[in-house]
Amino acid sequence: MNRLLTVAVAGCGNRGQHTYSRMLMDMQDKVKIVAAADLDPSKLAGIRQLCGLTEEQCYASAEEMLSRPKLADLMLICTPDSCHYAHAKAALLKDYHLLLEKPISPTAEECRELAALAEERERHVAVCHVLRYTPFYQKIRQLLDEGLCGEVITVQGIEQVGYWHYAHSFVRGNWRREDESSCMLLAKCCHDMDILLWLLGKKCVQVSSLGSLRHFRPENAPAGAAARCTDCTVKDCPFNAVNYYVNRYRRTGDSWPQNVVAFEPTEEKLMHALRHGPYGRCVYHSDNDVVDHQVVLMELEDGTTVDFTMSGFTANNARHLRVMGTRGEIVADMNAMTIEATHFGSPTEVIDVKKLAEDLSGHGGGDRRLVREYIDFLRGDCPMTTTMTSIGRSVESHLVAFAAEVSRKAGGVPVKL
Ligand SMILES: NC(=O)c1ccc[n+]([C@@H]2O[C@H](COP(=O)([O-])OP(=O)(O)OC[C@H]3O[C@@H](n4cnc5c(N)ncnc54)[C@H](O)[C@@H]3O)[C@@H](O)[C@H]2O)c1
Repeated sequence: MNRLLTVAVAGCGNRGQHTYSRMLMDMQDKVKIVAAADLDPSKLAGIRQLCGLTEEQCYASAEEMLSRPKLADLMLICTPDSCHYAHAKAALLKDYHLLLEKPISPTAEECRELAALAEERERHVAVCHVLRYTPFYQKIRQLLDEGLCGEVITVQGIEQVGYWHYAHSFVRGNWRREDESSCMLLAKCCHDMDILLWLLGKKCVQVSSLGSLRHFRPENAPAGAAARCTDCTVKDCPFNAVNYYVNRYRRTGDSWPQNVVAFEPTEEKLMHALRHGPYGRCVYHSDNDVVDHQVVLMELEDGTTVDFTMSGFTANNARHLRVMGTRGEIVADMNAMTIEATHFGSPTEVIDVKKLAEDLSGHGGGDRRLVREYIDFLRGDCPMTTTMTSIGRSVESHLVAFAAEVSRKAGGVPVKL
């Protein structure tokens, strides 16, 4: 493509603006952002300034932007989970290619419908399964493809959400309630379901799952806990929002998650948000209902088994993976960014992922690589890769998550896919 690929941004929050639009502004030889929409005027003002948009190029909602004739080649759908289906469907009907934030939709029917619509309209939809694009998982996939483990027999995965990240997003934040976003497994772990299936290249045929919201409930509040951290005198609570957001702001400045709590934060804005907004709520007195721990057992088509744990009770927020096969084992730690690869009978090789790539920021380097690869693909500068695949493959991870949730709610009964 000789001309610039044009982009419209639906939802200008953390992902749409702070992540993807900032990255696209580093690629101005290839792309141009020509339209943006958000309900929040301050977010619109932010992206307008970031991308040099005119007032006419900014829309008060994605719906308004989508009511206009097609404005760009590609639309980024970065609105909240519950909006993805409607916005993606309207955009596909207008013949946009899509960079679609996960989850595709909170229901299996809508996921399948969007996959079919993309095929019918011959549009590309890249679902933001960013982990596939990380040097960490790409290296593991390479080792498996090279046969290091022989035939994979069983896999163990853990998604350590991190106690502070869990409290931020899943007790106080946008993903705390199933009716407002989706179940925890879909919201947080559709990445894990996707990466496990992508690494192994197999389909899942059966799942069962157990888990609950065990801790973050009113009956577990320490004696004397106030409804808001700004009024609380309980000592040593690890979930104290003033300690977490304001003290962290002093160390890290305007970065995630402070910029979620207050747009372009200052200490004053953060304190105001904690006194009046959702992020100042006591973790034991919020209106959350998603699980704080969940275990999923998967059986793949060739008999490979996978056990996966999601936990909100971890010090780190990083994934661990152990792949066990007939000829070798891989033990991978995304916190340490190391991969221990053992071909049985040979010494263990410890791979330092930090040496494989310069930039591991933004989901282990996945955010930036996804954007670059997709833009290059849409411009015709590179072919579709096995990393990118199709929305049809992305839907599979969602179907596993839906089936696991059915199992969990039925007390762990096996569910066939
Ligand atoms: N791929 C990943 O790893 C990853 C990571 C974080 C979030 N996400 C997903 O990205 C999406 C966005 O998350 P976020 O953290 O940026 O949230 P956010 O709240 O920061 O941004 C969402 C924005 O959408 C706007 N919005 C809501 N309704 C709208 C409408 N009708 N029209 C236009 N704008 C509207 C909101 O005002 C907000 O600014 C979510 O679906 C989330 O699950 C994906």
